[in-house]
Amino acid sequence: MEVIVTNNYEELSRKAAEIIDSQLKKEPASVLGLATGSTPLGTYKELVKSYEKGQTDYNGVSTLNLDEYVGLSPDHHQSYRCFMDKHFFDLINIRKENTYVPDGRAEDLAEESSRYEQIIDEIGPPDLQLLGIGENGHIGFNEPGTSFESGTHVVELTPSTRQANARFFDTMEEVPTYAVTMGIQSIHKSKRIILLASGKHKAEAIRQLIYGEEDEQFPASSLKGHPDLTLIVDQEAYALVN
Ligand code: F6R
Repeated sequence: MEVIVTNNYEELSRKAAEIIDSQLKKEPASVLGLATGSTPLGTYKELVKSYEKGQTDYNGVSTLNLDEYVGLSPDHHQSYRCFMDKHFFDLINIRKENTYVPDGRAEDLAEESSRYEQIIDEIGPPDLQLLGIGENGHIGFNEPGTSFESGTHVVELTPSTRQANARFFDTMEEVPTYAVTMGIQSIHKSKRIILLASGKHKAEAIRQLIYGEEDEQFPASSLKGHPDLTLIVDQEAYALVN
């Protein structure tokens, strides 16, 4: 595991974007695994900046997103598809048909999960997977207790994750209770994984990730078994590591 500690969130975002940009320069038809949430927003901004300067080209790039809420249509303002379009895809020259997000409105969600896993295998595996981390160690929507052998599947969100995401919805009732997520094993298929963490509220999770054992009660710990993992953390998130 490589650990890069930055002074602040801005530097973290620039560092992550630099790694992605150099991946795209090396391999213009790269497959990127992407995440939503607050943490990667700065990275997407930096990627858009270098695209606008003509330094990158997304014409041949494909993307696979980690997860999607069940029940939200792609144009719902809180769906992850909408998030990705707004913060990244609509701002670069990627072909929309090459951007994959699980379909949270599929009638048969088990079938959708297998279909998505098949897409990962057909167009992937990602050359590089960007990840955030939950305070309880979740990655994607893989909550504590998820099997390390899991493929893409449907999950019931824990009260703490629903609470953490409630800030984006008008009422608590509107926060979805289920999601489709790549499993731990699906995430592990990526050739390289970059996990980002910023802020004091992530410090305990980063401490546990660095010092703890692999344990299904702390999903991110599975990443310790991945051959090419880079953590990019700011000083606040690194505060509990000596
Ligand atoms: C998002 C995702 C989640 C987030 C995690 C951290 O696609 O899969 O695992 O990465 O909840 O979220 P933020 O970055 O908002 O703290």
